[in-house]
Amino acid sequence: MIPGIAPKPAAPPVASVPQPRHMFVFGAGFVGRYVSEHLLAQGWQVSGTCTSPAKKRELEMLGVKASVFDATESNSSLQSIHSLQQATHLLISIPPIPGIGDPLLNLNEDLRRILSDGNLEWLCYLSSTSVYGDCGGALVDEDHMVNPKSESAKLRYEAEKGWLNLVNHLNLSAFIFRLGGIYGPGRSALDTLAKSNSLSRRQKLRESKQYTARIHVADIYQAVLASMSTRCPSRRLVVALASRRKSIPSVEGARHPMRMASGVVA
Ligand SMILES: NC(=O)c1ccc[n+]([C@@H]2O[C@H](COP(=O)([O-])OP(=O)(O)OC[C@H]3O[C@@H](n4cnc5c(N)ncnc54)[C@H](OP(=O)(O)O)[C@@H]3O)[C@@H](O)[C@H]2O)c1
Repeated sequence: MIPGIAPKPAAPPVASVPQPRHMFVFGAGFVGRYVSEHLLAQGWQVSGTCTSPAKKRELEMLGVKASVFDATESNSSLQSIHSLQQATHLLISIPPIPGIGDPLLNLNEDLRRILSDGNLEWLCYLSSTSVYGDCGGALVDEDHMVNPKSESAKLRYEAEKGWLNLVNHLNLSAFIFRLGGIYGPGRSALDTLAKSNSLSRRQKLRESKQYTARIHVADIYQAVLASMSTRCPSRRLVVALASRRKSIPSVEGARHPMRMASGVVA
């Protein structure tokens, strides 16, 4: 210290401004909406897309900044979706379209520019266990060889590769979630029975299968949260509860809920 000169007071520590967390959901359907609602409750900003003005209003009622976006429209563009640029997190839930493939990847130029100019830290593409094909009841994990057989499974696998390729040069954590059959509030065999609806095409398909993989939407949300808390290179994860035993056909099982709950297989 030089005599007579008071020491300069230390500069106050620079307060780090917390980065506002902003999830953008492409395709705020069953899973997208569940994730949106729960993140909103945690104080996140959430934006997302749907294909109709009626669904847009529903999402807005929840607090989601919603945009109508139909990727199959010939003039579809991401330019007008301004909230996309602010997103720190991106969940992609729009399935591939037969004859087209992943409709977002077809907007490659728009996407590439927006993703590289923005604040993105995390990206998750919701895929399907269909990429493994029929494994005859074997337990499948991330290291299992893919074997997409159906047209939609092939498009899924192409979409996975497309998204990983797109984010390859970006410094972010990217995840592919290979989901089993999704169930949850309002979407179960019991709901089907309660509504006396006929089975959907996918439910009929499941009826004929001996083995199945299912995942509750709340568990997908937990997987989303867990993946956000790890900073790692791009990864593919199987997110499903796999059943090695012969499954109870879903609607038949629902007629005997006690039998399902106790895990006793007929
Ligand atoms: N359901 C299952 O058992 C299952 C199993 C494995 C994987 N997956 C996949 O996992 C993802 C999430 O599943 P989910 O059950 O939440 O799906 P979902 O409810 O059908 O939601 C799909 C979303 O994609 C939007 N979308 C569909 N076609 C579009 C298009 N041409 N342009 C723009 N948006 C479009 C839908 O818009 P609207 O909201 O306007 O309808 C909806 O928001 C999907 O990719 C699904 O295929 C599902």
